[in-house]
Amino acid sequence: MKINVGIDLGTTYSAVATFSKQLGRVQVFKNNDEKECTPSVICREENGYTMIGEAAKIEQKSGNLNTVAFYKSKMGDKNFSAYIGGQDYTAEDLSAIFLTEFVKEIEEKNNIEIDGAVITVPAYFNEEQRKATIRAGERAGLKVLKIINEPTAAIIAYGLTSGKEKNVMVYDLGGGTFDITIAHVKNTEIEVLATNGNHQLGGMDWDEVLLNNIATQFSDEHGIDIADYPEEYKELQVKCEEAKKRLSAVAATTISIQCDGCSGKYEVTREYFDSNTSNLLESTKLLIHKCFDEITEARNGKRFDWKDIDEVVLVGGSTRMPQIKDMIVSEYGKPPITKDINVDTIVATGAAMQAELCVNSTLTLTVAAPAGGNAGGMSTPMTLTISNTGIKDITAHSLGMLALASNEKDYINSIIIPKNSPVSKTFSRQYTFGGEKMEVFIMQGETRDPHGCDILGKYVITGMPKGQKNQLSVNFLYNANGVVEANANLGNGTMLTAVREEVTESLDEIIARLEREKKEAEEAARRAQSIEIMLMIDSSGSMDGNRIYEAKKAAKSFAREFDLKYAKISILSFGDRSTFTCKNANSLFTIDAGIDAVTVGGVGYGTSNTPINNNYRNFSGKGTRILVVLTDGYWENQVSEEYAADNAKADGILIYGIGIGDADEAFLDRISSGKGKKVDLSQLTTAFKEVASSIATEVASGNSLR
Ligand SMILES: Nc1ncnc2c1ncn2[C@@H]1O[C@H](COP(=O)(O)OP(=O)(O)OP(=O)(O)O)[C@@H](O)[C@H]1O
Ligand SMILES: [Mg+2]
Repeated sequence: MKINVGIDLGTTYSAVATFSKQLGRVQVFKNNDEKECTPSVICREENGYTMIGEAAKIEQKSGNLNTVAFYKSKMGDKNFSAYIGGQDYTAEDLSAIFLTEFVKEIEEKNNIEIDGAVITVPAYFNEEQRKATIRAGERAGLKVLKIINEPTAAIIAYGLTSGKEKNVMVYDLGGGTFDITIAHVKNTEIEVLATNGNHQLGGMDWDEVLLNNIATQFSDEHGIDIADYPEEYKELQVKCEEAKKRLSAVAATTISIQCDGCSGKYEVTREYFDSNTSNLLESTKLLIHKCFDEITEARNGKRFDWKDIDEVVLVGGSTRMPQIKDMIVSEYGKPPITKDINVDTIVATGAAMQAELCVNSTLTLTVAAPAGGNAGGMSTPMTLTISNTGIKDITAHSLGMLALASNEKDYINSIIIPKNSPVSKTFSRQYTFGGEKMEVFIMQGETRDPHGCDILGKYVITGMPKGQKNQLSVNFLYNANGVVEANANLGNGTMLTAVREEVTESLDEIIARLEREKKEAEEAARRAQSIEIMLMIDSSGSMDGNRIYEAKKAAKSFAREFDLKYAKISILSFGDRSTFTCKNANSLFTIDAGIDAVTVGGVGYGTSNTPINNNYRNFSGKGTRILVVLTDGYWENQVSEEYAADNAKADGILIYGIGIGDADEAFLDRISSGKGKKVDLSQLTTAFKEVASSIATEVASGNSLR
């Protein structure tokens, strides 16, 4: 029969459980050693033969270098790899290998077939660690129903009541991670209020204190650094963990060590151990207070602390150390709850209930009658019905985006979803954006300085209408697995495309690039705002009469198409010579006077000059440069003028050729950036208007700048 399970994938021990409908409770599966907890240790030999669990732990203890443990704390860490069996593995690979073997063992031993699984992670795991866990589960052939937080699983398994309302603190100290979570429980509803943790803190750090101490004593005595002997070192690691466990029951123990022909035997007392690990304990206390402060802040300053906690639940094997309970008693004034709690399997139990809720959305639990009997005074078991919607978890990490601070200088992490926000709740950001492709870099972390945060990736948003500024909204959420999702839409509701991409640049490279792009955009905007127009008017003999009259009229109306705050206009009269009748003018009075000053024959009656070649370099060069040529006939030096026009265009100058009368249309085409215009005299003003609007489009699109 195919079943759905909860898997507590622990740093040191893992467990699998399932909810049994018939029994109305969770069953934890046993492994081949008849144990509910399986060491998360892998041994892979060169020939591919793989062992996990107790068998692998025995290999680890005997110093086999093809063993690996504690990889969970390296999940999502791109720089970590372990070399076993002649190959390098990432923490995700190792989790996939472990899960594959573990599931196989549990299936065979218990004669079941596992289909879907809820896998637990420390509440403090970040997005990449969660995604790596999902991938590892899938690689092990599991249908990953959901990723849930270990403390939340513990509350699901332990905290639900009928009728009572309470605040529960879960203090979860496992082998490699620490989480502190405070939740409000009302009947069968759980609302997580705050969570903090450290995914690099766990029982292994307590082991290390002993390890370092013994290694130092041994080195002082024999001058041998045991760290240089990998096999002996692995063996000592296991011995120190065992000694630590013994110290939970007895006041003193010994650790013996053999290395390179020398041996030593050392006594450790609990007193010594407690005093040398007090800084570790202290760091868990600080995180408890951080939770209190965060809840206080969320309650607008109404103080939340120990007095508001109704029950403290200890989870994780490391809470067996007496120092943990002592600390709780001295801080809280009361001991933690111990009745009906198995610190080793409570997380897997909650995960199994969640797996059932994923598939059936409600479950009915048979529970013992409360002390003093049921409402009717009976002591027969009663039932509790739990619904998936009653479990409200939160995110342990803020989600932010890389943004320019209001001083327009510094880049900051601008928080979009604050930590402790409910999962699956959407948070939106509005943007006004003129480009076609927007990049939003998303980060996880609490500091305003982006260097203190992890870059999760970027969303690339496309599909905005071109050539205009758009109002758009980007909507972010942490989904039920704690993985970020986003979509984007225009102000009118039209959906855009938002694609998540990996970021390969470092933060400093991203900032440098954004800075560069910002400068370029500013430069483009500045250039786009200022335009320089040089209007060349043919004043050879053939222009006499109506032609020059219409040309002047058209030129004056052309000048009125521009905002002279940004545009400067020069008028050039050409024939056998060429001369400016006004230069870089930004008043209509001066421009009109310049146009009036163009007189037929004033620069000779022929067309022997080369006005383009002589003058295109005379722009001041700051804005978009535009050359408009009006002529009514063939020029003597057309070929060299075409050559000059090519050079001008290559230099970024836009050229518009307008012809009337006997103008050579093909020549106008050749000198123009686009096509030339040959028009009837009566259409000249209209033609100039069209040129003005084409200039406006070019400037707005920035094309002329390329
Ligand atoms: N009696 C004991 N005294 C002290 N420590 C103990 C005792 N029993 C187990 N531990 C420690 O508990 C840790 C394992 O706890 P647990 O199985 O809850 O962790 P895990 O689930 O593997 O880790 P995590 O939750 O951090 O991923 C180990 O560091 C182990 O040494
Ligand atoms: Mg655990």
